[in-house]
Amino acid sequence: MSGSRITGWGSNLPEKVLTNNDLAEGGLDTSDEWIFERTGIRQRHVGGSTSQMSIHAGKQALDMAGVTGDDIDLVIVATSTPDQLMPGTSATVHAELGIRGGACDMQAVCSGFTYALMAANGLISTGLERILVIGADTLSDYVDWEDRGSAILFGDGAGAVVLEKHDNATLLGFDLGADGLHRHIGYTDHDGKITMDGKEVFRTAVRAVTQSAKNAMAEAGVTAEEIDWFVPHQANVRIIESIASRLGIPMDKAVVTIQDTANNSAATIPIALDTAVRDARIQPGDLLLLGGFGFGMTWASAIMRWEPNV
Ligand code: COA
Repeated sequence: MSGSRITGWGSNLPEKVLTNNDLAEGGLDTSDEWIFERTGIRQRHVGGSTSQMSIHAGKQALDMAGVTGDDIDLVIVATSTPDQLMPGTSATVHAELGIRGGACDMQAVCSGFTYALMAANGLISTGLERILVIGADTLSDYVDWEDRGSAILFGDGAGAVVLEKHDNATLLGFDLGADGLHRHIGYTDHDGKITMDGKEVFRTAVRAVTQSAKNAMAEAGVTAEEIDWFVPHQANVRIIESIASRLGIPMDKAVVTIQDTANNSAATIPIALDTAVRDARIQPGDLLLLGGFGFGMTWASAIMRWEPNV
């Protein structure tokens, strides 16, 4: 059976760091202690632009795969914070990285990267050779910095992978879903700020991602005991803990990067993947569960054998 595999990866965060103490000292009625205990976050990176972070992360992924933009059939940028309403941010990435093929954006909020990975895998099965998949968001532009219920959670960042046609499938199972009736629990209007019912998002996310991960594992024919690394969306460490415990995956098998990055939406999963591969936690042959959720509500999970072979 032919399939695809990841051959390059990269990530990018803006230089400017805003710590929990910076938020408290800036007048937000909160504390480092409260934020860390309730979310696992210590700091977030802010001041990025979705296209520039995408370009840096994408270039790293291309270099790692040993290819150039000329070798890429399609670039997909998963984002809900594009530089402009039109054209897509992928157009800027296309120009700057010299992509030969097509370009499009994908909007599934924080689930966007996994949705895009699934789409890319499907497009490769129809004949494309190599796709650059990027998850990037600049949530700091949409944060209400006076709302302590949401301002503490978000940041900016980008992560990217090169997905290539391969003789063997390494993406072994997928699940995706949505519940549009829950779109009111998290949203941002044109020219508006992030508005959210945090408790309801928390509850819905745990339920949806747990079931979605089970569906993806069933499709792949693997059990939770076989998962070497859970690479989850980084929204709140307590959400990650709840999902991991319901799945029977110990927390020392979960990649947690939220302390440094907070929630940068479509970027969290590729950044967590990049981080854990670079620090050698994830090794060739490991079985990964990617899983996340976003406003919509949307959710998506993927089971992947890590076989970069570079
Ligand atoms: N600092 C200090 N106190 C805070 C606070 C903050 N930043 N935010 C809320 N509080 C207070 C509340 O006012 C409340 O006080 P009260 O008991 O006197 O009324 C108390 O802390 C508990 O608030 P609550 O809203 O119940 O906290 P929580 O444990 O649910 O945590 C979130 C709030 C937002 C951190 C949590 O619900 C969450 O992470 N939800 C998911 C959001 C998410 O992931 N969104 C993105 C989706 S991709």
